[in-house]
Amino acid sequence: MSIINKESVLKALQGVKDPDLNRDIVSLNFVRDLVIEGSLVRLGLVLNTPISPVRLKLGQAAKEAILGVPGVENAEIKLESDIPKAGPAEGKQSVPGVSNIIAVSSGKGGVGKSTVAVNLAVSLAQFGARVGLLDTDVYGPNVPIMVGVSEEPAVRGQKLLPHQAHGIKVMSLGFLNRGDKPVVWRGPMLHTAVRQFLYDVEWGELDYLIVDMPPGTGDAQLSLAQLVPVQGAVLVTTPQEVAMGDVRKAYNMFEQVHIPVLGIVENMSYFICPNCSERHAIFGQGGGEELAKRFNNILLGQVPISISIREGGDTGIPIVVGAPDSPQANAFKQIAENVATQISVCALKGRGLPIIDMSDVRGDRFAV
Ligand SMILES: Nc1ncnc2c1ncn2[C@@H]1O[C@H](COP(=O)(O)OP(=O)(O)O)[C@@H](O)[C@H]1O
Ligand SMILES: [Mg+2]
Repeated sequence: MSIINKESVLKALQGVKDPDLNRDIVSLNFVRDLVIEGSLVRLGLVLNTPISPVRLKLGQAAKEAILGVPGVENAEIKLESDIPKAGPAEGKQSVPGVSNIIAVSSGKGGVGKSTVAVNLAVSLAQFGARVGLLDTDVYGPNVPIMVGVSEEPAVRGQKLLPHQAHGIKVMSLGFLNRGDKPVVWRGPMLHTAVRQFLYDVEWGELDYLIVDMPPGTGDAQLSLAQLVPVQGAVLVTTPQEVAMGDVRKAYNMFEQVHIPVLGIVENMSYFICPNCSERHAIFGQGGGEELAKRFNNILLGQVPISISIREGGDTGIPIVVGAPDSPQANAFKQIAENVATQISVCALKGRGLPIIDMSDVRGDRFAV
C-alpha cells in the first residue's frame, strides 16, 4: 500500500476550480482540516456562498479528485459555508448581526420586483443561509400577501419582532398599515420608517437581508439607497421595459450612490406552453442580455411568465416552496445562486463592480 501524503492530495484538489470565482479551491482557502488516516482522506470544504446545487457539485468534484490519488480508497468531505460580511461603508451605520444587505429594485412598478425578492430570499434560505426580507415598498407593500402573513408584529423591549415565513424573517410596512387606508408618505417619514425597520427590528444574525425597494428613482428611492448600507443591488426588468429609459435611470441611480449593481433579472421573459412545454419568447428574445452587456454587467437569470408564479404570490406560498422542482422555481434558484456568487466576488474584490464572463453564468457553470 502506498503512503498518501498531504501534498499529493492538495495537488489533486488544485485541479478543482470554483466555476464562478475561476480559481482552484486550494488557493481560495476553501480546504480545511485535511486529515489522512490510512487510505481514508477527510477534510472540510468551507465555501463563501450557501451550499447551493452548484456547490454540492463542487464537493462531489473534490471527492472525485481525491479518490484519483493513488492509495486513496475513501474520502469524506464536510461542506460548510462561511458567508462574507460586508465591510463598513462610509457614512452609513451597518445593521448589527446582518452581514449583507441586498436591494431589489426596478425602474417601475409591476415588473415583478416583489416576486423576485420573495423567491430570491426563500431560495437562499433553502440553500442553508440565514435570510431576512424587508419590504420598504411604500406604494404597494405586497410582501405580506406573497408570504402569507399579515398580523401586526410583536414588540420585545424596544424592538419589533419580524415574522417567520418559509424559513425567512419578514418585516413589511404592510404589517403596520393594515386595511386599505392610504398612507401619504412624506420623505422624512419614509426615512424614519426605513431607519426603524433596519435598526429597531430584531433581525438577529443574518447572512443576507433582502430589501424590496420602492420602484423608480424618485427622491424617496434615492434617499433610501443612501440611508441603507447596501452591499449590492439586483435590478428587475421585463423584456418590454428593456428599450425604455427607466432601467437606465435606475441603474444610474445606484451608480450615483456607489452601490454596485450585482446584475439584472429579466422577469416574464418567456412563456412555457403548458401543453407542449415549448418556450415561447412572447416579447422577443435577448433583451435582458443585451441590457446587461450595455451596462457591462451580468444577467442573473430569466424568469418565465407563468400562472403558477402569480398564484404562488396570491396564495402566500412562493413557487420555490409550492413547486420546488419546477422550471419556474429553478429559474429563481439560479438567480439566488448567482446573487450569492456576486456577493462573494464583491467580498473578494473589495467594493468594486464585479464583472464575470457572461458565459460562466449562463452556460454550463460547472467545469472542472
Ligand atoms: N414571472 C411571472 N409570471 C406571472 N406573473 C408574475 C410574474 N412575476 C410577477 N407576476 C405577477 O405580476 C404582478 C406584479 O408583480 P409584483 O412582484 O408585485 O411586481 P412589483 O413588485 O414590481 O410591483 C403580481 O400579481 C405577480 O404575481
Ligand atoms: Mg412590489
